[in-house]
Amino acid sequence: YLVNGNDIFKAARENHYAVGAYNTNNLEWTRALLRGAKETRTPLLIQVSTGAAKYMGGYKTVKDLVLNEMDNMDIDVPVILNLDHGDYESAKECIALGYSSVMFDGHNLPTDENLAKTKEIVKLAHERGISVEAEIGKIGENQGADGGELASVEDAKTFVAAGVDKLACGIGNIHGVYPEGWKGLNFDRLKEIAEAVPGEPLVLHGGSGIPQDQIEKAIKLGIAKININTEFQLAFQAATRKYIEDKMDLDKGNKGYDPRKLLRAGTDAITDSMKEMISWMGTAPID
Ligand code: G3H
Ligand code: ZN
Repeated sequence: YLVNGNDIFKAARENHYAVGAYNTNNLEWTRALLRGAKETRTPLLIQVSTGAAKYMGGYKTVKDLVLNEMDNMDIDVPVILNLDHGDYESAKECIALGYSSVMFDGHNLPTDENLAKTKEIVKLAHERGISVEAEIGKIGENQGADGGELASVEDAKTFVAAGVDKLACGIGNIHGVYPEGWKGLNFDRLKEIAEAVPGEPLVLHGGSGIPQDQIEKAIKLGIAKININTEFQLAFQAATRKYIEDKMDLDKGNKGYDPRKLLRAGTDAITDSMKEMISWMGTAPID
């Protein structure tokens, strides 16, 4: 069943664990993530970026796929379907389509405009029981060792007062593979923000490739949702490559070219990698 996740993330912050937010990219990804949630009996936030949604045939196709697979796979853990890094138009589209959560990412707008648009999205979403995530500061885009712009305590308070349910903070985190010489997460700023907005679930984007000790410390300080995409792409890539090297020597009579076989190892690797992240994050199973 689809839920907005507000209770799940509040409980996570309160009890010092995190719930992963995993990007889907296609049918195999969707199944791998649902399987990981089913086998660990933990709640799942499955999300799609605008680019991935385009690749998959649009936001409606993604929603239909997720719901169909939930049904096919007899999923009995709560699932949150979230738009990841949406602009204003995409957020409105996903609200209308019945996503249970949307991220409105106005980080490239002037703060006033980001705030005004966030408020509009909050209103539209909350009327329908849909959860909203906003971004303050900037998540780095793999351009330097420093990460993006640090989120301010003031913005954290302002956006929480505007009604957002989850707050993605720039705290030195970076999307994609972390560059050589990365300075690490800024725990001082995270602590200040967490204290300024007690009980509010904070979100760590760029969760792939952060060392386990930093993940654990961030969770202790207030991170309740961790976004992970690249990590699973790397796991998929490595396992697929190994499969091709081992099983695709057609001269030896191997018939590994059947796509249903070819994509199997990579798909399993996503589930395995997800289970490892769940153990790092201490995600609590449902009762
Ligand atoms: O919103 C998506 C995430 O922040 C994913 O970041 O690919 O670095 O794990 P990542
Ligand atoms: Zn992100």
